[in-house]
Formats: sequence, structure tokens, C-alpha cells
Amino acid sequence: MSTIDKIKELKQQRNAVILAHYYVEDEVQAIADYVGDSFYLSKIAAKEEADVILFCGVSFMGESAKILSPQKTVIMPDMQADCPMAHMADIKKIQQMREKYEDLAVVCYINSTAELKTYSDVCVTSANALKIVKRLPNEHIFFIPDENLGRYIASKAPEKQFIFNDGFCHVHAEIAAEHVKKAKEAHPQALVLVHPECTPSVVEMADYIGSTSGIIDFATSSKEQEFIICTESGVLYELRQKNPHKRFYPAGNQQFCPNMKRITLDKVAAALEQMTNVVEVEEEVRIRANRPLERMLELGS
Ligand code: 13P
Ligand code: SF4
Repeated sequence: MSTIDKIKELKQQRNAVILAHYYVEDEVQAIADYVGDSFYLSKIAAKEEADVILFCGVSFMGESAKILSPQKTVIMPDMQADCPMAHMADIKKIQQMREKYEDLAVVCYINSTAELKTYSDVCVTSANALKIVKRLPNEHIFFIPDENLGRYIASKAPEKQFIFNDGFCHVHAEIAAEHVKKAKEAHPQALVLVHPECTPSVVEMADYIGSTSGIIDFATSSKEQEFIICTESGVLYELRQKNPHKRFYPAGNQQFCPNMKRITLDKVAAALEQMTNVVEVEEEVRIRANRPLERMLELGS
């Protein structure tokens, strides 16, 4: 029996659904029931009715699914697949900022540990951050952990006072303005589509800035035929599926997230077969981390 047939059979036996982020390998996206960006996948996880959620992504994604759907068994193909940025904020600094600014809102990118979420007022993803920040009554915003996304949102919400944190995504930070310039010279007709985790110098060169879903939707509805893609290369699979006649060029050759690429079909099959790699979140942490996530679903919808 092929690995894909085995996964299909096990999925039925376990009453499981497979969720996958756009950054995992093509063949993993191909077998998933739902593929999407972080916001879409968290909404699916919150309302899914299957007994088991198999999350093909990095730790904070499985953890968020468990926090939002505690009655489900959430499993992951590889528990070592972790997002380094999810750890790049400091609880002491959050407490200091709360003491300094009376009206502070701690806005936490969903790419964060459950512990960081427990100290936050609201979670956001790159797809809903601007909408949510604008809806908050607070003037002072401490944006954690991603500085680049924070700076981009701040540029669109001048009525707010932002305090930034120095976290970053190494995959997006490695896309340099020089790479984009070279890609643009090679493909002068191409539009530049940029994820807001990129540095401000790359964001400045963009024709469109948005989440992975935003980039896919923009390219799909555009009349243009060529696009330079400034985000993790996994999005090329969906872009090419939806637009077989359009041309997509990665800006550089380093656009791979090593953690997302840990997820393989064999690991998907093994996790479903053995029901190992079960995501656990201590109940007290879960309740406190659930508040900012639920607030995101409420304000982001
Ligand atoms: P989105 O899915 O919100 O576009 O975020 C990208 C990302 O870095 C996920 O790890
Ligand atoms: Fe984290 Fe960046 Fe990988 Fe997303 S692409 S999981 S932000 S390291």
C-alpha cells in the first residue's frame, strides 16, 4: 500500500482531519483536508468536528489548535518542528512595558509560545493584524515577537504609538533588497509580492504586501502574468496549482523554512498510525492563552 493510501485509511479509522500550512512540502499540502495561512487554519481548528486534528506545521500552530479545541486530540508529524521566532520575546519586558504605559495593549503575533500568549491581550496573524490593531481602544501597542510585522502595521496605523520587540523570522529576514532588485532586473514586468515578515527595505519595494493567503489571492485575481515572491517557497505550490499559466519567481534561493520542511508524508503516516506526538497544554496555561486567541477570532472576523 502506498503511503498516501495508508494515510487515507488511517484518517478514516481515526476520524482525523489534516491541516497544513502553505510552507510545508508540496506532497504534504496535496494530502491535506485544509491548506491555508495561520489565520484560516486557526479558524478551522476552532470549529472542526473530527476527533483528531493532525497539524502539519510548526509547534505554535499545533499548540494554538489545542488551545482553541481542547476536546480534540491534536497530533503533529514532528514535535521538533518549531518556529524560532515564537520564543523571541521576554516576559520581563512585557511586565516592564505594562508598568510604563497604563493603556498598553500587548499584541502577540500567533507565531509565539503558549506562555507568551498568556501575557498578551490579543493575538494576531499577518492576515488580520492591521484590522485588529485599529479596532483596539488602546493607544500604546507593544507588538511581540516580530519587529518587521510590527513596523509594517505601525506604518498603516499612525494613530497608534508602537513599542517594538526585536524578534524576527530568519527565513524572511534573509530575503535582501539586493535579491529583489536582481529578480526585478531579470523580470522587469513582474510584480513584487511581499510577506510583512520581510525587512522594511524589502517591504518598500513591494507592489503588494500581505499574508501567504493574501499573496496567493492577489496573484490569482491579478491580470498580470509574472510575480516575484518574497516569502517562504512553499506558497509556490498553491500559486502554480491555481495559476498554471502565470510565472512565479522566488526573490532569492534561501527561502526555505527548515522547520516547516521537517514535515514529511512518512511522518504524517507514522503519527496517525501510532497516535504519538500528542500536543498537550497545561489547563491553566490553556485557559489564559485561549483569551487572546478567542479575541483574535472575534476582532479579526
Ligand atoms: P501567515 O500564514 O500568516 O502568512 O504567516 C506566515 C508564517 O510565517 C507562518 O509561519
Ligand atoms: Fe517561523 Fe519563519 Fe518558519 Fe514561519 S517561516 S515558521 S515565522 S521561521
